[in-house]
Amino acid sequence: MKSKKIFLINLFVLSGGWFCFLFSQSPEQADNVNSCVSCHLEMGDELAVPVTGMEQDVHDRLGLSCVSCHGGDPKAGLDGDLEAAMDPAKGYIGIPERSAIPQLCAKCHSEPNYMRQFNPRVSTDQFARYKTSVHGQRLQRGDTKVATCIDCHGVHGIRNAKDARSSVYPPNIVKTCGKCHADSEYMKDYGVATDQVELYSTSVHGKALLEKGDQGAPVCNDCHGNHGASPPGAPSVAFVCGQCHLNNSELFIKSPHKMAFDDMDLPECEACHGNHAIEHPTDEMIGAGEQSMCIDCHEDGSKGFETAVTIRREIDSLKGKIHFADSLVSVAERAGMQVSEAKFQLNDADDALIKSRTIIHSLSVDQIKESTGEGIKLTDAATKAGWEALDELQFRRKGLAISIILISILALGLYLKIKEIDKKYPFKTEGE
Ligand code: HEC
Ligand code: HEC
Ligand code: HEC
Ligand code: HEC
Ligand code: HEC
Ligand code: HEC
Ligand code: HEC
Ligand code: HEC
Ligand code: HEC
Repeated sequence: MKSKKIFLINLFVLSGGWFCFLFSQSPEQADNVNSCVSCHLEMGDELAVPVTGMEQDVHDRLGLSCVSCHGGDPKAGLDGDLEAAMDPAKGYIGIPERSAIPQLCAKCHSEPNYMRQFNPRVSTDQFARYKTSVHGQRLQRGDTKVATCIDCHGVHGIRNAKDARSSVYPPNIVKTCGKCHADSEYMKDYGVATDQVELYSTSVHGKALLEKGDQGAPVCNDCHGNHGASPPGAPSVAFVCGQCHLNNSELFIKSPHKMAFDDMDLPECEACHGNHAIEHPTDEMIGAGEQSMCIDCHEDGSKGFETAVTIRREIDSLKGKIHFADSLVSVAERAGMQVSEAKFQLNDADDALIKSRTIIHSLSVDQIKESTGEGIKLTDAATKAGWEALDELQFRRKGLAISIILISILALGLYLKIKEIDKKYPFKTEGE
């Protein structure tokens, strides 16, 4: 009980301390005097750009301002004495060095106690992660061409990451990373490829995000991390892709490929699908055909080769049966027959085909056969229903033909009867 009280007192004192820190950081909050803003605005041109930019800035909305980053005294300098305002003795740092920017941002963003006053669920790991990234590591070694916080977030106009106008909002990230990574001149000293943006933009993922607006599709940071940006490394690619393709990833990890690929330093999913230029896969990628990727690594006669052939046969067989059943059911449907049950079965068979294409990643013939078998059962049922509908149609058509004949006979009889009556009582016109 007592220790809890002491803990609470401590917490109170500590958070009080943080509150003082906050106010010492931004004394302009006490009253609305801010010489930095007023004088810079008056100066116009480039000196006013940060002020107008800050009007859109997430920090500005929280009452943070120039002095939060640059230091100085915003209450001095109202009389035009810029040196009194921009006084190093008052913490003024001028334009921060590029290499010092992450620390500058981290003085708040890495302080949980401070940050939680604004947002209880805020994360404060950006700087720690950044230091592990290729960017952060190189910056520590003096390479200032790498990305620092402001290259990805901007400065004087930093927006919330969830804001659609933010430079780190998913569709905008391609351009943000591409500023450097697609500029071969800027990157020429590194011997690293600069085709990622180009390849990504034409991939299934790029098209889904950039053309269809599907925010479930990954962009650069989903595979490389926001702050820990680095290539994932061969043995962890399945985890990266598995964030979204969980089934493929689990099947792959349990398959014989996982261990074999890791031993040979083959980059898992990437070894078959690529990374930036991932395309829609086709059935031709399996089997022993020219476009099969299995035969790149498995020779004729090996278990891998045999498996590839069997799997392909299973898939083709199901696909063929679905195609046939579908045509049959469509004919019956066009003729006006009731085939909704068969159509449901075909939908489920399609799902079994899609599932089988995922199960390929297990490399298990048994698992594939189980899944295609399910599909084949459904297709057989639909085919049967299709034939039955057509039989029924035939039956009805026969019935129709017979009734047409009967009706025709009846009509003829009627016609003859009328003729006969006409003869007996000839029609008299007026005046006759
Ligand atoms: C009375 C006018 C005035 C006031 C007040 C003022 N500035 Fe400036 N500021 C200037 C002028 C003029 C320059 C450009 C010339 C220079 O660097 O001395 C400048 C330059 C700067 C620069 C760029 C420095 C560089 O090395 O190029 C920063 C950063 C800056 N000011 C921040 C601040 C901050 C923060 C405050 C408030 C604490 C502030 N200023 C208050 C007029 C002012
Ligand atoms: C969130 C931190 C932050 C805030 C808030 C901030 N700045 Fe800056 N400012 C920076 C950084 C970082 C740079 C260095 C930019 C670079 O290297 O390109 C900078 C650069 C500058 C420069 C140099 C020229 C330029 O545009 O790059 C001026 C002038 C300046 N700031 C003035 C201001 C003024 C005036 C305010 C308030 C209206 C302000 N800043 C608010 C971080 C901040
Ligand atoms: C290589 C680009 C890049 C760099 C460098 C970078 N960020 Fe980020 N940052 C991002 C992306 C991308 C997001 C989030 C996007 C999302 O939520 O989908 C993000 C999100 C954030 C967020 C929102 C909360 C969160 O963690 O998701 C904060 C705060 C942040 N960054 C601060 C920083 C700070 C501070 C630095 C420097 C130490 C930094 N960033 C460096 C790209 C970067
Ligand atoms: C004086 C403290 C302080 C400094 C310095 C500072 N920030 Fe912030 N920043 C905050 C606070 C407080 C928030 C609001 C957090 C929230 O609401 O989640 C914030 C929010 C942000 C956000 C939006 C977070 C989100 O959830 O999307 C980004 C991005 C960001 N800051 C980047 C930077 C960068 C980059 C720098 C360095 C140039 C920087 N900050 C410097 C205090 C600071
Ligand atoms: C300001 C320029 C700049 C920006 C913006 C930038 N980077 Fe980088 N990045 C670099 C430089 C320079 C390197 C070092 C090149 C190297 O190590 O091969 C690098 C390295 C990398 C690497 C390691 C490459 C390797 O194999 O060594 C990855 C991954 C990476 N960046 C991803 C990203 C992502 C993702 C984004 C956007 C969220 C981004 N970068 C934004 C400049 C930038
Ligand atoms: C679907 C996941 C994914 C997406 C999206 C993605 N990458 Fe990659 N990226 C990878 C993988 C996997 C590697 C290879 C890593 C390895 O082999 O260790 C890689 C490698 C890289 C490299 C190292 C050089 C190279 O080309 O091998 C850079 C730089 C890079 N990516 C930047 C980007 C940028 C910029 C974007 C956005 C336009 C992006 N990546 C989008 C997965 C992705
Ligand atoms: C952030 C989630 C996410 C990550 C991470 C991701 N993907 Fe995707 N992927 C998707 C989405 C969403 C689609 C569907 C795009 C579309 O066609 O509309 C997709 C489509 C695909 C397709 C095409 C499927 C088809 O039937 O056409 C393949 C292949 C693929 N991803 C492989 C990968 C690989 C390999 C990786 C890792 C290097 C990866 N994905 C990482 C979300 C993700
Ligand atoms: C040995 C090569 C190989 C590896 C390794 C591999 N795939 Fe595939 N993947 C294929 C083939 C072949 C197909 C095409 C199946 C078809 O259409 O018949 C495919 C299809 C896909 C599809 C589309 C079908 C579906 O399941 O929706 C996705 C998504 C996919 N793979 C993701 C992954 C992911 C994620 C990984 C890593 C965990 C991975 N693949 C590893 C060969 C591979
Ligand atoms: C990048 C090379 C590569 C590709 C592509 C590849 N494999 Fe493999 N596969 C291997 C390696 C390496 C092993 C482990 C050594 C071995 O048994 O041959 C293996 C093992 C196997 C095994 C287990 C063999 C056993 O003896 O138990 C099967 C089954 C298999 N692969 C099927 C496939 C199928 C099907 C495809 C096409 C979808 C495929 N592989 C594509 C490299 C590859």
